[in-house]
Amino acid sequence: MRHWLIACVLAALPGAALAQMEPGDPIAGQRLATTWCANCHSIAPGGPGPATDIAPSFAAIAALPSTTSMSLRAYLRTPHANMPDYRLSREELDDIVAYLLTVRR
Ligand code: HEC
Repeated sequence: MRHWLIACVLAALPGAALAQMEPGDPIAGQRLATTWCANCHSIAPGGPGPATDIAPSFAAIAALPSTTSMSLRAYLRTPHANMPDYRLSREELDDIVAYLLTVRR
């Protein structure tokens, strides 16, 4: 059962990656962000101000000229002093990055 599941996931990956430039699913990403990131970050586009003073809103992060799919991946893959070390799976990372880039105004 377990092996079957892994085979399925592996088979689905390249297809998803080829489907579009940004492989993640922003809807799933929003769900993940609501659970994991919203304690500190304001995650909605144009939503209320930051949940905390120290964490920038996702809209502000997305608006930075330096923010790209690559920079977000690099940031979220490395541990940071003020942020929990999530150890996101590749798919979770894709989804969250896809969502974060959709809040760009
Ligand atoms: C415990 C609070 C907390 C949580 C939870 C949290 N963050 Fe953060 N995040 C921060 C803080 C604080 C900063 C600012 C870091 C700094 O300036 O040192 C930050 C910075 C960032 C940055 C970099 C912004 C920039 O200036 O380039 C990104 C991207 C980011 N967070 C994404 C996320 C994502 C995605 C999640 C959920 C998976 C998340 N964060 C969860 C507190 C948090």
